[in-house]
Amino acid sequence: MPHESLPAQLRTADARRPVCVISSSAMTTLPLDASGKPVTTNAQLVKWVDEMAALCKPDRIVWVDGSAAENERFTKQAVEAKVLEPLNQEKLPNCYLHRSNPNDVARVEHLTFICTPTKEEAGPTNNWMDPKEGYAKLGKLLDGSMRGRTMYVIPYVMGPLGSPISKVGIEITDSVYVVLNMRIMTRVGTCALTMLGDSNDFNRGMHCTLDVDPEKRFICHFPQDNTIWSVGSGYGGNVLLGKKCLALRIGSYLGRNEGWLAEHMLILGVESPEGEVTYVAAAFPSACGKTNFAMMIPPKRFKGWKIWTVGDDIAWMKINPEDGRLYAINPEAGYFGVAPGTSYDSNYNAMKSIAKDTIFTNVARTPDGDVWWEGKDKEPPPELIDWQGRPWKAGTTEKAAHPNARFTAPARNNPSLSKYADDPQGVPISAIIFGGRRATTIPLVMQAFNWMNGVYMGATMGSETTAAATGQVGVVRRDPFAMLPFCGYNMGDYFAHWLEMQGSITNPPKLFMVNWFRKDKNGRFMWPGFGENMRVLKWIVDRARLRVGGQETLFGWVPKAGDLDLSGLDVPSDTVDEACNVDLDEWSTEIESHGEFFDKIGATLPRALRIQRDLYVARIAAARNWKRGTTVRPPK
Ligand code: GTP
Ligand code: SPV
Ligand code: MN
Repeated sequence: MPHESLPAQLRTADARRPVCVISSSAMTTLPLDASGKPVTTNAQLVKWVDEMAALCKPDRIVWVDGSAAENERFTKQAVEAKVLEPLNQEKLPNCYLHRSNPNDVARVEHLTFICTPTKEEAGPTNNWMDPKEGYAKLGKLLDGSMRGRTMYVIPYVMGPLGSPISKVGIEITDSVYVVLNMRIMTRVGTCALTMLGDSNDFNRGMHCTLDVDPEKRFICHFPQDNTIWSVGSGYGGNVLLGKKCLALRIGSYLGRNEGWLAEHMLILGVESPEGEVTYVAAAFPSACGKTNFAMMIPPKRFKGWKIWTVGDDIAWMKINPEDGRLYAINPEAGYFGVAPGTSYDSNYNAMKSIAKDTIFTNVARTPDGDVWWEGKDKEPPPELIDWQGRPWKAGTTEKAAHPNARFTAPARNNPSLSKYADDPQGVPISAIIFGGRRATTIPLVMQAFNWMNGVYMGATMGSETTAAATGQVGVVRRDPFAMLPFCGYNMGDYFAHWLEMQGSITNPPKLFMVNWFRKDKNGRFMWPGFGENMRVLKWIVDRARLRVGGQETLFGWVPKAGDLDLSGLDVPSDTVDEACNVDLDEWSTEIESHGEFFDKIGATLPRALRIQRDLYVARIAAARNWKRGTTVRPPK
């Protein structure tokens, strides 16, 4: 692959640098830094890196130390190798553009495997591969794969340094793009080795880009070995192994064994004008609004209200035995966010976050070295270089940026970053929200009657597919807890874990579902979304704090007429009513489809969820007999 194969002059430039570089002949000795001190004395770590080096046969090994000097060196190398293109450094200081291979622009769910001793452990929603087969198949592809190349060893921490919830990972990669992204997304280098010490408790991540051939692309997880092997891709979620692979797939497996939760959730704090802060976590599937919600700016009507971002994609939550509450940390240190649709209007804080120190992947470029994507501003510039590096003119039907174009930006750039984002304890969660992209049926907001009912809501979440994964876009599929592509074990057991957690969370968060994406007959969104979601969030916070009423429906609590603050909202109240409506016929179809999904889960589906569904079926029948109507929306 031309983007990734390093030219010869670059290799020698690397070899001349003594910093954290050892030659392959010295592999059996401890890796040394510039001053001759060992980078690590962790025997298990050195042994594993030796084994991987013996397999991949790189020309040299570079241990990533996390320093600023190293960043400069890697960036320069990446530019020389044409992996990165410098952008206009006056407009966008320290920002670079990367164009991936056009066959490698999103996660590949059909090539992602959970390799457990039995198929049953991976469950019906995951692709399964026998671990022996996985190691053998990928081992063959990795054999000699780094000849003539550099093998980078990235020690990293997921979570605040020193947090009891944080985990150490080591990612081996042949891609300097991965190194530079991991430096933004995680806490890398010496700090991770210090935290690890002599422990053998680290995730073993092995990545090789190979020649970016989809035929040789596999993302394999070995939960029992705390190991990930990823080959044949250079795209974010496939190769930044700390993110979906460790923090979610391996993380969810560890969470079940160790009694905590690893979730595809943003974490935010809502501050009231009086200074009261309430923390909320929310699970929306990929490209369904987590980054936007986590950085939201409340509308004018909500003067004095403020949203603080703790995380925009992943939450690790643990019970604090002292107060019986769930505390959440964000394992990441940066944002790997969707570029299209991001603008100063829709997400001011994201725009500020990406104004410097950012790597853009597959966006378009303006003649003066600025970036552009659909939805950045109303009018596209007359001429651009598109995401594939081709000239592009306004009026062309083809998109200038790829729909899954991404930015990698450090969290420290975010003006709304919570002061607790780095707190080892995490933040106490008062509400958990489940949301999908649904054109029909699902109301703007609904609160679960109780924990079990809320787990049912999470388990039966549906959403239209997006460009974040390869495959058809816009078809509704069940995406339980927004974890369908990310649960590292049997989905039925995952539901059981959620149900069982109730026993230890004596002070549980309240559970909700939302839908920003309901459409009218003409296919237009009924709810304006983005900052206006604050109106819904306010009701959620007030419900979680037990200080506002609600209206009971067959399926959960919804706001009573007048409960949602709609003043100053530029939307007819009929439209809002329509967005909030709970339609019996639509729900009947919905519950029907839950049944089909439950059948797919099969034997591991907790009985409580099956009974909960039966209860809905019975309630619908009763309501039909009684009302002979189609709606349970309360009269105004
Ligand atoms: P991942 O990084 O893939 O996990 O995505 P995400 O959940 O963080 O989604 P993100 O916030 O990046 O939003 C994805 C797309 O949804 C963007 O194109 C947004 O413009 C759009 N979007 C976000 N929030 C809203 C909303 O409230 N209403 C509508 N209509 N669109 C939204
Ligand atoms: C997602 O798809 O949910 C993402 C992007 O957050 S990736 O890291 O590619 O998974
Ligand atoms: Mn995500």
